[in-house]
Amino acid sequence: MKLFSQWAALSGSFLQLFSGQEQQQQQQNTEPAVDLPFLEHWGHYAAATYQRFENWQGCTACQLADIQQTRLNATWSTMFPAAFSRGYVGVNREHKEIVVAFRGSTHIMDALSDIQLFQSPWPLDISGSLVHSGFLQAYLAARPHVFRSLDTLLLASDDPELKDYTLCFTGHSLGGAQATLAYLDYMMHADQQMLSRNMPKLITFGAPRVGNKYFAKAINGARNFSNVDSLALRVVHEMDLVPRLPRSAYPGQYAHSDREIWARDTTDEESMDLVQCQTFSDSSAHDDGYLEDRNCSAGTNPLLWNVVPDHMVYPGMRLGIPKY
Ligand SMILES: *[C@@H]1O[C@H](CO)[C@@H](O)[C@H](O)[C@H]1NC(C)=O
Ligand SMILES: *[C@@H]1O[C@H](CO)[C@@H](O)[C@H](O)[C@H]1NC(C)=O
Ligand SMILES: *[C@@H]1O[C@H](CO)[C@@H](O)[C@H](O)[C@H]1NC(C)=O
Repeated sequence: MKLFSQWAALSGSFLQLFSGQEQQQQQQNTEPAVDLPFLEHWGHYAAATYQRFENWQGCTACQLADIQQTRLNATWSTMFPAAFSRGYVGVNREHKEIVVAFRGSTHIMDALSDIQLFQSPWPLDISGSLVHSGFLQAYLAARPHVFRSLDTLLLASDDPELKDYTLCFTGHSLGGAQATLAYLDYMMHADQQMLSRNMPKLITFGAPRVGNKYFAKAINGARNFSNVDSLALRVVHEMDLVPRLPRSAYPGQYAHSDREIWARDTTDEESMDLVQCQTFSDSSAHDDGYLEDRNCSAGTNPLLWNVVPDHMVYPGMRLGIPKY
């Protein structure tokens, strides 16, 4: 628990960013190619959360060649309906990566309708930032498991190689919302040296909006603050309704962070076209709320938005029909 307390201290570089001080940009690492195989790989990890991943060898989704070698370092399953969280921290030595994966809920529409208006201030260090209270409760239930595991892997481990593994937060649907919270939490609390070694990534699939525009701005800023090649992506499949929720009661109440990758169906069932959506890095220009790229999913006809089938199919993922 001694190490765990290190996460309580904000890293200096993060505070600098939010106090408006200039950060030197020294991009040392180049972004990985965001292509379909790249997204499918992380989609496989996210899909595994829907199965009994605790027994990795016995879980069919876990046996895909690219993730088969993963060893679980932590799992959690919190069953309180208001704080449902299930997921794992896995280490894949073959690919030199550490993955933190969160499962979605089968009651997605409940979670997005009834309690959508309740928001809680989080993270407290970012003034004005508010997030969906239900998503936050779920994430906070998982948080001790996640950080204790990352502590043992990245700080306490006598295996220094782990410190250079890529770290990725991922999840589908509400799991993507929790991954988003975990990513910001990590970016705020890990020290600069750790960040520049793991190059943290956030890759979500069909995730709803998580917080308000100040939260979205913090996610976008986290990418910048540490001379780190951090990559935050939201994959939206075709006409998936879930990323369009919760709807804002007033502008900016719920906003998406950058950067959307719009995965469009092709006539080939096994393939998708990826549209790299525009990023609006100057958020001050969008005081009425974060503007999403109208040439991407935000510009589609609401009458065509659906949960089945478009929420259920993502790169690397074909999920069953959810229960409502
Ligand atoms: C997680 O990994 C660390 C570092 O390799 C190790 O010390 C610890 O025992 C692992 N925990 C589990 C539950 O495998
Ligand atoms: C990130 O850094 C780039 C380059 O310095 C800058 O143009 C952009 O506005 C920054 N974005 C945020 C959200 O701070
Ligand atoms: C949408 O695409 C068109 C044509 O490429 C471009 O002119 C326009 O600026 C784009 N709009 C947005 C909001 O990105």
